[in-house]
Amino acid sequence: MISQKSVQEVLDTAKVEDIIGDYVQLRRRGANLIGLCPFHNEKTPSFSVSPTKNIYKCFGCGRGGNAVQFLMEQENITFPEAIRNLAQRYKIELEETETSQEAIQERQYADSLYIINEYAQLFYQDQLFNTDRGKSVGLSYFKQRGFREETIKKFGLGYASERRDAFTLKAINDGYNIELLRKLGLVTQYDNDFFRDRVMFTIHNVSGKPVAFAGRILQKDAKAPKYINSPETDIYNKSKTLYGLYFAKKTIRQEDECILVEGYTDVISLHQAGIENVVASSGTSLTEGQIQLIKRHTPNIKILYDGDFAGIKAALRGLDMVLEQDLNVKIVLLPEGEDPDSYLEKVGETAFRTYIAEQAQDFITFKTSLLLKDAGNDPVKKAALVKDIVATIGKIPDPVKRAFYIQECAKMMGIGEQILVGETNKVLVQTLKKQQQRREAAPVAREDKEEWISEGGVEVPVPQPKPQENQYIGDEFQEKDIVRILIAGGDTIFDPEDQETVAEYIIRNIEDVLEEFDNKLYQKIAKITLNQLLDKLPVNPQFFVQHPDAEISKLAIDLLSFPYEFSENWEKRWEIFFITK
Ligand code: CTP
Ligand code: MN
Repeated sequence: MISQKSVQEVLDTAKVEDIIGDYVQLRRRGANLIGLCPFHNEKTPSFSVSPTKNIYKCFGCGRGGNAVQFLMEQENITFPEAIRNLAQRYKIELEETETSQEAIQERQYADSLYIINEYAQLFYQDQLFNTDRGKSVGLSYFKQRGFREETIKKFGLGYASERRDAFTLKAINDGYNIELLRKLGLVTQYDNDFFRDRVMFTIHNVSGKPVAFAGRILQKDAKAPKYINSPETDIYNKSKTLYGLYFAKKTIRQEDECILVEGYTDVISLHQAGIENVVASSGTSLTEGQIQLIKRHTPNIKILYDGDFAGIKAALRGLDMVLEQDLNVKIVLLPEGEDPDSYLEKVGETAFRTYIAEQAQDFITFKTSLLLKDAGNDPVKKAALVKDIVATIGKIPDPVKRAFYIQECAKMMGIGEQILVGETNKVLVQTLKKQQQRREAAPVAREDKEEWISEGGVEVPVPQPKPQENQYIGDEFQEKDIVRILIAGGDTIFDPEDQETVAEYIIRNIEDVLEEFDNKLYQKIAKITLNQLLDKLPVNPQFFVQHPDAEISKLAIDLLSFPYEFSENWEKRWEIFFITK
């Protein structure tokens, strides 16, 4: 087990904005940072991060916590796993206390899939750099494609030897569990190597851990598939993985744009050329899970397609889904026969950048012009085209955007705007009907139910009173206020004369009525505060936020969070000053 002291050190070091910044695009608003909540689907940010309080709180779905709780929820991991993850990140050495054999084994099992993949990655890398065949076949292949050594290492590229069981034998010899090796797809059921005589690509999850591999064949025109890939496992869900996201996420947020390509080599080449905000869907059409991943970092996607007509038409079909998610999609068509990697190689970085900046077209107008060309003068095809475009426009949640596209597309197709409006409305009515039916079939809580008001031009949610908050009895209101002050400012000096803190002052005054509190949770917090003071331990926001009692920690986060910023006019115009942390 991790010692309490180490846990505390991690809790004190971890910065909530660092951790969340890896997953959510945050921008500053007053003392806080805000962004789109990663836990529920929303279009206007209600997810607030307070660096000073070191907590986050979503005013849309109500979730909140500190860095550890964020990781637990986001990565679906346990408390100790989150602590270990943070310790690694901040280079904190964890002190372990004695623990049962069983617990050790359990943890080893949980980590073992990653450990084996890390082992395999090192094996393939070693083969690439340190064996004759690896060097002459694998490394020279990568070099010939223009990959530099540092790129090869960064992306975990490697080589799987042509021998039948080189990896299997070594892994077993080094004590790795054959069942797990098979489960990860590294070893076949006949105990042979799954990847043979292929150059290897490591697929990382969003935290940079190796979750799967892809092996590319070296021979041209071979009968075998060009790539073979690891199977899905407990740590690899193909439809929720984007190749390269770990290396791209920082730049995606900085540039507020994600470039989407198809292939592994496209990602690596662009990255190497300094275009780092790029990920690959790995050949399949985009899935909902992949879109969600992108959306955590930016609403803007630029998709690079090679210019083969049939391929594009097929790809476009899947894209309406992206519109439903209210993402802004641009398309860049590459010259026929080129993929991003080959085109970059051909024209060089500067020309490539210029090309994708200049050629980027809006998705819907792009689709319209493409289909128009396809339809020619055929009236039947043209009618079908209108239906197709209208269905696409109907997917856009934002009515203003919708109106804009209707105008634009009507012009392009040379038909009256009114016709398109009418057709779009039909689609909208159908969609609404379907939604209603679904809701009636499964009456679940809607997520985006909050109302919004405009606060100085910024949209903020109207705080929804929770039902139990309306049912105060007795002195609960006052008790809640006392507890809020204890949590938010217990450690501030109340009386400079005798250095008494706010907590000391409050507790001194209510000590004799502690037993008469109406609300048991507030009472518990007051009593805990009393004990802290008696033990000469701190009474500050972090103490409550990090409290092992989940009920207390949750209440602390709720009481510390406030969806509004004070207007600067209070100070500027009225000279009323607030001390806000
Ligand atoms: N793909 C796959 N299995 C295949 C073929 C393709 O998983 N048999 C996926 C891979 O993720 C690949 C992507 O589809 O990267 C795009 O395929 P393709 O364009 O054929 O390959 P490239 O990545 O361009 O590879 P290369 O440049 O080496 O030809
Ligand atoms: Mn290619």
